[in-house]
Amino acid sequence: MKKNLLITGGAGFIGSHLTNFAREAGHSVRILDNLSPQIHGADAVFHAPEGVEFVRGDITSRDNIEACLEGIDTIVHLAAETGTGQSMYQIQHYYDVNVQGTALLFDILANQPHGVSKVILASSRSVYGEGAYLCHNCDTEGARRFPSPRSPKQLAAHVWEPVCPVCNGPVSATATREDDGLAPASIYAASKLAQEDLVKVGCTALGMGYAILRFQNVFGEGQSLNNPYTGILSIFSTRIRLGLPLPIFEDGAETRDFVHVEDVAKAVLRSAEQESFVSGTMNVGMGNPTPIMEVARLLCQSMDSPIEPHVTAQYRVGDIRHNYADIGNLEKNLLFTPAISLEAGLKRFCEWVASQPIPQDYLDKANAELKERNLMG
Ligand SMILES: NC(=O)c1ccc[n+]([C@@H]2O[C@H](COP(=O)([O-])OP(=O)(O)OC[C@H]3O[C@@H](n4cnc5c(N)ncnc54)[C@H](O)[C@@H]3O)[C@@H](O)[C@H]2O)c1
Repeated sequence: MKKNLLITGGAGFIGSHLTNFAREAGHSVRILDNLSPQIHGADAVFHAPEGVEFVRGDITSRDNIEACLEGIDTIVHLAAETGTGQSMYQIQHYYDVNVQGTALLFDILANQPHGVSKVILASSRSVYGEGAYLCHNCDTEGARRFPSPRSPKQLAAHVWEPVCPVCNGPVSATATREDDGLAPASIYAASKLAQEDLVKVGCTALGMGYAILRFQNVFGEGQSLNNPYTGILSIFSTRIRLGLPLPIFEDGAETRDFVHVEDVAKAVLRSAEQESFVSGTMNVGMGNPTPIMEVARLLCQSMDSPIEPHVTAQYRVGDIRHNYADIGNLEKNLLFTPAISLEAGLKRFCEWVASQPIPQDYLDKANAELKERNLMG
């Protein structure tokens, strides 16, 4: 059945791909996006694809949201501030946009007539904090454990790996499931968890269906090259083009689960198209951990750069060490398995980067902001 979608944050990285897929599939799309200068650059102009209605407005404005709801049956809520490190000192702003914005959306849905029957939330693997680990010290079979976020003291001592919360022994990362413990390590993560609760409680109370999609590290064509606060591959691609060094936090062995943006957009669209009322909470990742040092080297190779990434032993408070997804629910509920490998996705990303103007590099500025506040060591 054709849907009438409102995509908040639809001019952004994931939203643009989703918009294209949704239009190709014959759905109608309206975008609400404020074209945040941090993401789109100053004086940004957005050229909406043909047939797509673009409303420039803010998720924190009642008037702007109300102006977008007519005729909508499905909301995909992507608009958010997304920088983990930045969230640790722009706390009120992150809560205003991510949490109050979502609360306002539900306040309107609760108090105004509308035809919305489903809300899909872009959540994040960050809600798990460290996610799931196995302890072979407690149990030779491997006991499932959920270490607390690493403390500033632990990070300052360069003890990078989390330890077993039961025996303090070594643990190894395993795939995190949706029903595993939730322990946000950053303000951004806490705001995403608050969004999840608002969507779950709000939709249940108002009789709407919902899906909560916990994205892993999304990469690919179209990720903002202006934003120094998120998107390691975009940030590093700029530094490579400018011939700048690639500093890697900790010892480079920290891992992330990289998933290509097209796979993510397809998963979101599937969940929007799904007729079942509640699609539940699903991880969206490849299900593979890749060390940051390895991904930086692969990027250099893909961009034919002689730069050798180097570890700095620096760290950011709020960063997690490892996390990768168990994607069983995604495969079972949406019958969808992400298909674009890291290597194939990097090739596409690098071709796109080469077609873009070279932006300025603001990584040093972003790191200086953290250092000033003792959020980076
Ligand atoms: N990219 C990732 O790796 C990743 C991982 C986990 C979760 N997510 C989530 O996915 C969603 C989309 O992320 P993205 O990578 O496309 O980010 P993005 O920054 O490219 O897009 C976000 C869009 O939201 C808009 N926006 C920001 N503040 C707004 C406001 N106050 N009102 C209206 N619009 C606003 C921005 O202008 C931008 O176009 C976010 O909710 C993010 O938390 C992304």
